[in-house]
Amino acid sequence: MLNGIIIAIDGPAAAGKSTIAKKIAQKLNYTYIDTGAMYRALTHKAIQLDINLNSDHDLTALLENTDIHLKPDGDNQAVLIDGIDCSEEIRSHEVTAGVSAVATHMSVRKLMVEKQRELATGTGVVMDGRDIGTAVLPKAELKIFMTASVDERAERRFIENESRGIYTPLEQLKQEIEKRDQSDSERAVSPLKMADDAVLVDTTSMTIDQVVDKVIVLAEMRMQP
Ligand code: DC
Repeated sequence: MLNGIIIAIDGPAAAGKSTIAKKIAQKLNYTYIDTGAMYRALTHKAIQLDINLNSDHDLTALLENTDIHLKPDGDNQAVLIDGIDCSEEIRSHEVTAGVSAVATHMSVRKLMVEKQRELATGTGVVMDGRDIGTAVLPKAELKIFMTASVDERAERRFIENESRGIYTPLEQLKQEIEKRDQSDSERAVSPLKMADDAVLVDTTSMTIDQVVDKVIVLAEMRMQP
C-alpha cells in the first residue's frame, strides 16, 4: 500500500489545471481542492451584496462570515456558498472579471490560505491554484507548474464556454486571459510564480490524458511504500 501524498498544481488562467487535477484525484482516490473556486465564491457573494472589490477590510469581513464548501459531485466539484449551490454562478463573466482584484488583498489571502490548509489536512490531496506550491502547501511532495500558450488557453476556454452555451469571441477571451495573467503575476502578495522545486509541464501540444499520465508517474515516484 502506497501512502498518499500532497500534489500542488499551479499555473496561469485556463491552463487546464482543474480538469487535470480533478482527473488525477479521481484516479488516485485523493481529495481535490479547487482554490480558484474559493476566490470566485467570495467574489460572487461580494458582487451580490454590492461590496467594494477593492476593499480588503470589507472582503475579509465578508469571508469571515461566509461558509464555502467544496463538495464532490460526480465528475465535478460543486461549490456551496452558505449552503447554496453556486457552481455555475461563480464561472460567470462578471465573477471572472472581478476575481483577480479580490485575490490581490493581503488579509483576504491570509484567511483563504488558512481555510485551504485546513482542507488539506491528512494525505492524498490534489490542490490547484496560483500559490499552492509557493505559499499554501510549500511542503507538498509534488509541485507542478502547468502552463500552455495563451492562444491554446483561449481556444480551450472558447470550446469549454461553447459547450456551456456561452459565446465570447476568441480574441476577447485571449485579452481577458492576458489581463488576468498580468494581474495574478504582478500582485504584491503571493504572485503567480513557479516554485523552485516545481516541475514545469507545458500542455500546449499535449492531450488531457497525456498530462494526467505524466503527473501520475511523477506522483508515484514520490510515494513511499
Ligand atoms: O483558477 P481560476 O481561474 O478559477 O482562479 C480565479 C482567480 O483566483 C485567478 O484569477 C487568481 C485567483 N487565485 C489566486 O490568486 N490564488 C489561488 N490559489 C487560486 C486562484
